[in-house]
Amino acid sequence: MRKSLILGIETSCDETAAAIVRNGTEILSNVVNSQIEIHQQFGGVVPEVASRKHIENIAGVVQRAFYEAQLAYSAIDAVAVTNRPGLVGALLVGVSFAKAFAYGLEKPLIAVNHLHGHIYANFLEHKEIEFPAICLVVSGGHTSLLLMTDQNSMELLGETRDDAAGEAFDKVARFLGLGYPGGPAIQAAAAKGQAGQLKLPRVFLDRNDFEFSFSGLKTAAMNQWNKLQRRGQANVYDMAAEFQAALVEVLVEKSIKAAVKYQVRSVMMAGGVAANQELRNLMKNRAKEAGLKLFYPSLKLCTDNAAMIAANAHYHYGNRSFAPLSLNAHPSLLSL
Ligand code: KG4
Ligand code: ZN
Repeated sequence: MRKSLILGIETSCDETAAAIVRNGTEILSNVVNSQIEIHQQFGGVVPEVASRKHIENIAGVVQRAFYEAQLAYSAIDAVAVTNRPGLVGALLVGVSFAKAFAYGLEKPLIAVNHLHGHIYANFLEHKEIEFPAICLVVSGGHTSLLLMTDQNSMELLGETRDDAAGEAFDKVARFLGLGYPGGPAIQAAAAKGQAGQLKLPRVFLDRNDFEFSFSGLKTAAMNQWNKLQRRGQANVYDMAAEFQAALVEVLVEKSIKAAVKYQVRSVMMAGGVAANQELRNLMKNRAKEAGLKLFYPSLKLCTDNAAMIAANAHYHYGNRSFAPLSLNAHPSLLSL
């Protein structure tokens, strides 16, 4: 593989991020400017506000990435940017900046699929992943199970029919008044409660495929919550614990079922929801029982960052798969 020093830029949602990575594995800097505090007051990400904040932040975040890596702009070999999927206005800020930066420096431009970036966060930290592997991608916008025969072959086995896992966390947290982002808020509340005190459905668990559905779980949680409140029996900690348990159980059991069916060696997790401690614990236990190796990124690399974008770009750099300066941003996945 060709050697590379790549600037990664990520602005697909509410994090303005830039990182410099050497050869797809060595992080020289990884700067993340989170807008969480701004969006918290609205209970979720406001796309227009996110775009405007990216515009304010992007130049400073990129400058800081070079400063922390102690490098001159001209030292890099390529500029990589997330151009799909995500909030289109937010993506456009990163894409426009990356194009101008690459043009000014006379360096190639590389377009990165955000979900490939999440998966590559694993390769930044784990050199010993054995293939074939099942990869569970769980973020605010996606929930998919992939079969991977090597780092770059990703076959989609199944995905969510409706809400993504992170989206369900965020919506239920908002409904319960736990705040934004919902995943960490529900995890913290769940730690004070007990799963099983009330019962929520494990949707699609008994189906023989790898599809998911979380919209029904969300509605069931909301209906029960209303009922318990009317009876004066609502306990937000028990509700958070049961909701988290119901969602995590389905994610884990389907991943293990896929791993057994396809006789893989490893299970990988990627995306913001892979930061969830309950998910990590249950997957660890079940993978161990099934004789599978388990890999997931450290917390900082699970949620949105640009190091994972630069890591994936190293692969494209090796293939000389560069993007034209007419590169556009796309809200949807196009293809995995
Ligand atoms: O990957 P990510 O940072 O952005 C997207 O690509 O969507 O994922 C964000 C999602 C949010 O829905 C957030 O609530 C969820 O990841 N999340 C978590 C945890 N930390 C972040 N969900 C469950 N438990 C967590 N600890
Ligand atoms: Zn993400």
